[in-house]
Amino acid sequence: MRILHVAAEIYPLVKTGGLADVVAALPVALAARGLDVRVLLPGMPAILNGVTDLKPLIRLGPAFGAAVITLRLGRLPDSGLLAYVIDAPFLYRRDGDPYLGPDGRDWNDNHRRYALLGWIAAHLAAGELDESWQPEVVHAHDWHAGLAPAYIAQNPSLNTATVFTIHNLAFRGLFPLDHHTDLGLLITGADQSALEFYGHLSFMKSALVHAKRVNTVSPTYAHEICTPKHGWGLDGLLRDRGGHLSGILNGVDYTVWNPSSDPALPRGYSADKLRGKKVCKLKLQAEMGFAVRGKAPLFAVVSRLTSQKGMDLVLACLHELRAEGGQLVVIGSGEAEIEAGFRAAAAAHPHTISVHLGYDEALAHRIIAAADVLLVPSRFEPCGLTQLYALRYGTLPLVRRVGGLADTVTDATPGNLKDGTANGFVFDEPSSRALAARLRDACALYHDPATWHHLQRHGMAQDFSWADSAARYEALYRSI
Ligand code: ADP
Ligand code: GLC
Repeated sequence: MRILHVAAEIYPLVKTGGLADVVAALPVALAARGLDVRVLLPGMPAILNGVTDLKPLIRLGPAFGAAVITLRLGRLPDSGLLAYVIDAPFLYRRDGDPYLGPDGRDWNDNHRRYALLGWIAAHLAAGELDESWQPEVVHAHDWHAGLAPAYIAQNPSLNTATVFTIHNLAFRGLFPLDHHTDLGLLITGADQSALEFYGHLSFMKSALVHAKRVNTVSPTYAHEICTPKHGWGLDGLLRDRGGHLSGILNGVDYTVWNPSSDPALPRGYSADKLRGKKVCKLKLQAEMGFAVRGKAPLFAVVSRLTSQKGMDLVLACLHELRAEGGQLVVIGSGEAEIEAGFRAAAAAHPHTISVHLGYDEALAHRIIAAADVLLVPSRFEPCGLTQLYALRYGTLPLVRRVGGLADTVTDATPGNLKDGTANGFVFDEPSSRALAARLRDACALYHDPATWHHLQRHGMAQDFSWADSAARYEALYRSI
C-alpha cells in the first residue's frame, strides 16, 4: 500500500512542536510494517538543505503567486525515506518559524503557501507529477495540509483515500473569506459551506468535511473535540462524522528519546542503573546556579509558554513550589505575558528558578533527564509528548486530566500505588490551587524514595513506542 504523508514540519529539520516529532516517526513505523511510505514537505531552507540527494522531478508554475515551482525528490536524513520537497522560492525560502515572519506575525500569504502543499499532494495523487509512484492514501496533518482532501475531492476521476489527522483543533487555519480566489477551489454550494467558517476560510474545516477519515492523536481528545467546550466551533461537524472520527495515541521514537544512549546527556542511565540520572540532575543544578542538592525536588517545564499549556497556572504556584524546597527549570517560548512572568520570577529567585526563553533540543533532553517532576498542567492537550518522554527518563509527569495526558498518566492515588499502575500525578480543576495541591503531594512522595523509585521504574518500563499506533493507522488505511 502506497501512503503519502503531507505536513509542514518534520524533526529534526523544521520543528515548532510535537507535530514534527510525529511526522518524523510515524512514516518510519509504517514503513517498518511493510507499507510504501513517502512524505511531502514544503521547501523551507532547512528542508532543502537537510533532505539528501534532492533531484528535480518536474517544474510547474506559475501557481499560488510563485513563478516557478520545482518538485524535488530526495531522502530524509535519518530514516532514508523518500521525501518530495516543493521548491517554491517565492513562497518558502524564508528562514525561521514556518508560519511566522521575523515580526512574530503570520506571513500574510500563508493561505497560498499552505494551499500549495495540499494542491501538490492532490496532483501527486492524480499521478501527474511522478509517473513512477502514485499514492493510494494521502494522509494530511493539521490545517497546513488541510486543503489536500478538498483538492482531491474536486477531481472526479480520483478515488484516492484521504486521512486527516488533527494535532491541535485550536489552530483552524483561518483566513479572510475573500482570499478564496487565490486557492483555485470551487466555492459554490456545498463546497462553499465546507470552506467557510463564520465569515472566514478555514483550512481545518475543509479537511474535516472532505477527508474520508478524520482522526486525532488520543482517544480522550477525540471525545473532547465533539463537545462545545473543546470543539472550537467545529464540534457539531465532528459529531456528524460519527464513526469516521477516531483517536489514535501518538507514540515515542525511542531511538531519539532513550536515556541510556542519549548523546545530549552528561551520563546515560537506565531503570536498573539510575545513578546517571542523579549525575544529570547535579550537573544541571550547578549549570543553573542552583544549590547542588540531590534532595531538593527539581521541577521542569519543557513547553510552549501559552495558556493552552497552563503556564499561567505554573506562574501562580511558584510560591508553593519554593516553599516546598523545590527548584524549577523552564525552557520554552510563547505568549509575551507568560514569558515576562517567568523572566521576572527567575530574576527574583535566581537560585531556585531558571528560565531559558527559546528553543534548544539538546537542553530540552538534559532538562527532562535531570528533573524529578515534569509539569504539564494543560488546559487542553491533544496528545502531549513530553509526558511520554519524561516517563522513559524516570521523571514523573504531573499533568491535568485532559486529552492525551489523561490517557497516559495514572495518578499516584493510594489505590493506584497499591496495584502498581501509578506513574505520575494528575489533577482535575484548571486552577493554580489544584496544581499547587498536587505539587505538594508530589514533594511529600519525593521524600519516600522507595515509593518514588517504584513509580520511576514503572514509567520507564512502559512502552509507548509507535508499533501499536502504526498498526492502528494501517488498519484505518485498509478500512478505506
Ligand atoms: P505541542 O506540540 O503542543 O507543543 P507536544 O508535547 O506534543 O506539545 O510536543 C512538544 C515538542 O516540542 C516536544 O518534542 C518537546 O520536547 C519540544 N519542545 C517544546 N518546547 C521546546 C523548547 N523550548 N526547546 C526544545 N524543545 C522543545
Ligand atoms: C499538537 C498538540 C500536542 C500533540 C502534538 C503531536 O501540537 O498540541 O498535544 O502531542 O500536536 O500530535
